Amino acid sequence: MRLKDKVAVVTGSAQGIGRAVAELYAREGARVAVVDVQAEAAEKVAAGIREAGGDAIAVLCDVSSRAAVNEAADAVRAAYGPIDILVNNAGVIRPAMLHKMTDEQWETVLGVHLHGAFYWLQAVVNDMIERERGWIIFTSSSTAQNGSIGQINYAAAKSGGLAMVRTAARELGRYNILVNAVAPAAATEMTLKVRTDPRFADAVKRMPLRRHAEPEEIAPTFVYLASGEASYVTGQVISVDGGGMMVR
Ligand SMILES: NC(=O)c1ccc[n+]([C@@H]2O[C@H](COP(=O)([O-])OP(=O)(O)OC[C@H]3O[C@@H](n4cnc5c(N)ncnc54)[C@H](O)[C@@H]3O)[C@@H](O)[C@H]2O)c1
Repeated sequence: MRLKDKVAVVTGSAQGIGRAVAELYAREGARVAVVDVQAEAAEKVAAGIREAGGDAIAVLCDVSSRAAVNEAADAVRAAYGPIDILVNNAGVIRPAMLHKMTDEQWETVLGVHLHGAFYWLQAVVNDMIERERGWIIFTSSSTAQNGSIGQINYAAAKSGGLAMVRTAARELGRYNILVNAVAPAAATEMTLKVRTDPRFADAVKRMPLRRHAEPEEIAPTFVYLASGEASYVTGQVISVDGGGMMVR
């Protein structure tokens, strides 16, 4: 087991990529907090992990609220002790062309991706510094580098996330805390429209692997980055996207 007895927080793990990461982390021996704004779905994921012999709790948390994040971090510490692994994965999209985007669409996306990630970093980092160990992983996106039509809010948030990864990696390396990102492409609720809209039908054919991935194909990279195997990897973004990044 590659994560034995590590305490992991995975935000946005009631479904999609976060769910697959939480489940695989538990199979690798971690004690996992399934953190999400969807209480019932998070509880279902945590219960499924426990039924499979793993250790997980569901923690209700809107990551865009600092108070909610601090409360959730305290709940995880009360249940499991100090947090070793933080996966900043919670995400939303609110697409609109730049000239039509509302403040609400802009603020919602930045609130979840950027503010949420920042609040969680601050909620866990002092414990990690004190213990001189920690693994922090952001779920990034090719949009961080390439931009995306109709997603200036999401592109700004994901670019900002990468800037946070690199800055945190620089600040925290001296404490043996590794900070990295995974840029995925997977069949989830978030990508449903892109996968089913005929206007995007050609996009998958341009990808070298010519298919969408299941979230389970993304999760192993999150295990690698949180395990001892990645002990000399920090400040990096690993694309797990069927080679899509090369052909955009
Ligand atoms: N699926 C892809 O191809 C893809 C590509 C690039 C990046 N990503 C990123 O991967 C991450 C996971 O996305 P997904 O594809 O699994 O989508 P998803 O919609 O299936 O999952 C997102 C999860 O985040 C949770 N969430 C949303 N707002 C929240 C909040 N305020 N507080 C707590 N939880 C909240 C949702 O409830 C949900 O469980 C996101 O950061 C997304 O931007 C996904």
